[in-house]
Amino acid sequence: MARRNSSRVVLGVGGGISAYKSVDLTRRLKERGCEVRVVMTQAATAFVGPLTFQAVSGHPVRTTLLDPAAEAGMGHIELARWADRLLIAPATADLMARLAAGIADDLLTTLALATEAPLSLAPAMNQAMWRHPATQRNLDILRSRGAQILGPAEGGQACGDVGPGRMLEPLEIADIIRPPTGAPLAGARVLLTAGPTREPLDPVRFLGNRSSGKMGFALAEALTDLGARVVLVSGPTALPAPRVAEQVCVETALEMHAAVLSRAADCDLFVATAAVADYRPAEPLGQKIKKDAGELTLRLVRNPDILAEVAARRPPPFTVGFAAETDRVEEYARDKLVRKGLDLIAANHVGGARGGFERDENALTLIWKDGSRELPMRGKTQLARELALLIVERYLERHATPT
Ligand code: C5P
Repeated sequence: MARRNSSRVVLGVGGGISAYKSVDLTRRLKERGCEVRVVMTQAATAFVGPLTFQAVSGHPVRTTLLDPAAEAGMGHIELARWADRLLIAPATADLMARLAAGIADDLLTTLALATEAPLSLAPAMNQAMWRHPATQRNLDILRSRGAQILGPAEGGQACGDVGPGRMLEPLEIADIIRPPTGAPLAGARVLLTAGPTREPLDPVRFLGNRSSGKMGFALAEALTDLGARVVLVSGPTALPAPRVAEQVCVETALEMHAAVLSRAADCDLFVATAAVADYRPAEPLGQKIKKDAGELTLRLVRNPDILAEVAARRPPPFTVGFAAETDRVEEYARDKLVRKGLDLIAANHVGGARGGFERDENALTLIWKDGSRELPMRGKTQLARELALLIVERYLERHATPT
């Protein structure tokens, strides 16, 4: 996949008087380097004609779900996958209610369910509708799922009322949504571990784990897209080679340790996503272990903690660790952050019904010394992009603040 500097925005236009402002919003987003595809609700078409948005966005506008001609072009699922972000502006009270309830009765609400892209909403409605407990509850639900709420602003309204409910100005929205300018990690060297390790018992057997390497590979590509030179040290996975500067393939924890430590002096950021075996068989046998009637006892010895060793270097690179926990996720993760001397830790809940090892989706709690952020359940590619942006934010902040 070629590297993109633009951001693909599906702009969903709801049926409110502020829909006219979204024409200008389309222009402003394009000026800021976004590719924009517009989807309008039926109600929105009563306020602004689709042709207006088509002319400004430069692409056909979708208004219905069951449109064979449109589906023959970019189908709704393709559109859902294409998007880096779904921005709904104006988001009316009715649209927010349908989104909160998970209703998919038109193209826009169906896209909102089908896309893995983050959702941004610019609410616009009468001030009484905005203040109504039903709207506020829907807002809480959407927020708790990770939706970004832009505004609304306060002031005079089209209906003559004064109060909260005005859609933010197109310029304000476009400045928030714009893709990160340039390559914020240009010149930065990232060393990243991914995948499982295999600890040999004999020439044919090993101790391993369920890590697929998907999260680490996706993160390596997301950091590459932000301009970093990424060296990936990966354990055995079934994944195709990712877009990174260099990939070093290893099998055991000791090999991963050697590959990382020999490169640690040349990295600015170290990201440890690998599921490294804590123990290895004390003496792997040169020949296949034969079975007999009795029990077999394996003696295991500790593997070095690669992440803790890199974090203990002076000066240390910016270090990011992962914590896969089955319970008390935040508590254990924060403990690990302090104990290993990390800058940032990404904690995930494993062993539940969804997410984690061997899955395509995951949710993370990101924790650093004086803050935390939730990244709700989504596909690992999208999650990796958001995590990469947070790593950039924390990394640049550490460089701005002398320690
Ligand atoms: O202590 P725990 O294994 O739970 O810590 C997990 C974090 O430490 C992960 O970021 C993992 O990549 C890293 N790690 C490591 N070397 C080890 C064990 C864990 O780099 N031997």
